[in-house]
Amino acid sequence: MCGIVGAVGDLGPGQELVPSLVDGLRVLEYRGYDSAGVAVEIDGTLATCCRAGRLANLEESLAAEQLGPAASAASAGIGHTRWATHGPPTDGNAHPHMDSARRVAVVHNGIIENYAALRDELEAAGVTLVSDTDTEVLAHLVGSRLEAGEDLASAVAGTLRRARGYYAVAFISPSCPGLIVCARKGPPLALATWAADDSGRGAGAYLASDVLGLLPHGRQVVYLEDGDLALLEAGRVEVRGLDGKVRRREACTVEWEAEDAGLGDWPHYMLKEIHEQPDVLAQTTFERIREEAGDVVFEGNQWSDESLAGIERVQVIACGTALHAGIIGAYMVEELARVPVDVDFASEFRYRDPVLAPGTLALAVSQSGETADTLAALRLAQELGGRGGAICNVVGSTLVREVEEVILTHAGPEIGVASTKAFTAQVAAAFLLSLRLGRARGALAARTARELLGELRGLRPCMERLLSGGLLEEIRACAARFGESKGFLFLGRGVNYPVALEGALKLKEIAYVHAEGYPAGEMKHGPIALVEPGMTILAINSPGRVAEKVRSNIEQVKARGGEVISVGADAASHAIADAVLAVPECPELLSPLLNVVPLQLFAYEVARLKGCDIDKPRNLAKSVTVE
Ligand code: AGP
Repeated sequence: MCGIVGAVGDLGPGQELVPSLVDGLRVLEYRGYDSAGVAVEIDGTLATCCRAGRLANLEESLAAEQLGPAASAASAGIGHTRWATHGPPTDGNAHPHMDSARRVAVVHNGIIENYAALRDELEAAGVTLVSDTDTEVLAHLVGSRLEAGEDLASAVAGTLRRARGYYAVAFISPSCPGLIVCARKGPPLALATWAADDSGRGAGAYLASDVLGLLPHGRQVVYLEDGDLALLEAGRVEVRGLDGKVRRREACTVEWEAEDAGLGDWPHYMLKEIHEQPDVLAQTTFERIREEAGDVVFEGNQWSDESLAGIERVQVIACGTALHAGIIGAYMVEELARVPVDVDFASEFRYRDPVLAPGTLALAVSQSGETADTLAALRLAQELGGRGGAICNVVGSTLVREVEEVILTHAGPEIGVASTKAFTAQVAAAFLLSLRLGRARGALAARTARELLGELRGLRPCMERLLSGGLLEEIRACAARFGESKGFLFLGRGVNYPVALEGALKLKEIAYVHAEGYPAGEMKHGPIALVEPGMTILAINSPGRVAEKVRSNIEQVKARGGEVISVGADAASHAIADAVLAVPECPELLSPLLNVVPLQLFAYEVARLKGCDIDKPRNLAKSVTVE
């Protein structure tokens, strides 16, 4: 996916429009970093500056005044940071794109699925397209409508009525100075506007793909809905449908602080966010716990006995790390609530022909709430009669607005592409939901629930000790000793099987190392053939019903020359392993919350030693809003 920004009017004393666009792109760079560009409207003309590569390249060109000396007089502008979908990351494919006569500039997040047909039509009409992108066709189609005398809003609406696919787009044109026309269908788009105030800031407005980009400008945010088109001017916004009819969209207040998204003194967002996990655990759970009653309560009386009464089955749908959290949630729901749970990749669920039993809760798990596959799978599940629920980290996201009930995780903005604190928050939220469902169905005694909630509260100091103790030294030693292994197997059973999946994913996505997570009991059915000297096995084990079985698996791989790192609180596993990453003991059901921490740090250290770009790993983006 990509990040788009737009600005119009006065951004405050000493704030110029182009630097504010670049600042917005810097905050959104985690959404895609293949290229970046800006376009501004200055005295009846458009000026653009686009560069392949990181934002720093664009800043270098802007410093060389590529927008021209009058850039500081710009009254409206748009910007883009790209995750390439059509065409390689080159200067020519970087957004913004313009039509041939430079009547309009556009930035786009999403995919225009019928762009080839539109491109053929334009070329047949004699238009020369200069890029490989799908987006450029939008510029030419809007430009031709402007040429025919339409205003910008009408030209954009008419063009988008012909486009198939999904988009968050923003257009500027010298024909409509001081106006940005933006629209959304799929990927997110949020707006902030402000009137002149006594701080000396005149009226203005800002748009961004992610509310993080708006925080420096204001907290009253309007989230566009699918099918919305907005006219953004200094101090005002008008929302319409593509049919031109006005739509009402209420602003909501954003709680996040801009500094939450700052790096501070940390070397990487990922390390900062790993260390935020104790607080995130508390922020997501503590205020919802009613220990005396042995229960939990959620905002707005959501997930009440009444709303859960009809739930007979749960279908979890998610992607990536969120799916791993969802699998852990499935174990928790079945153990505490005795309700059957199915789990599926959202990208699989949406294209198979699923059957949902009556009384199914379709539980989508997502940090961003904008993942295209997860949204599509949820919508399909709802069409099939499922009750939509979500565990999500972004209050104004599409997912949150499309479900009947949500558990918001309070992880704060997660900038590192590799998800860490959001995973912890998702697992904790799933535990709360499992306990709530168990209590609502009478499957879980108050006393048992009370004990578990006490143990949950106790995890925060355990996690803090884990992160402040000698673990990091042990991690560094393991990364140095095993980091160059020919391959990695992560093994776990029960709730620690998805932890093995998560540990492997972390290593893959930031260190570019081949790693597989596997159910430990499955090793003997094939994968054990991979085990030989030079293969490193991370065995995740905690005291509990399968601990002895995992110890046997450790012996099996050691007998074949594999080197084993024992991760967890099982002392007997540590005793037979080649290296140990120990965590404090806690109930097995909660152990993923501690066991994942050394795996996150191991991936981080291996990637650091390899000199990888930890926060912006190659080929990835933070939230995949395209298929
Ligand atoms: C996790 O480290 C990855 N960044 C990726 O797998 C991610 O979890 C997945 O794309 C789902 O994103 P979401 O939670 O925002 O839906």
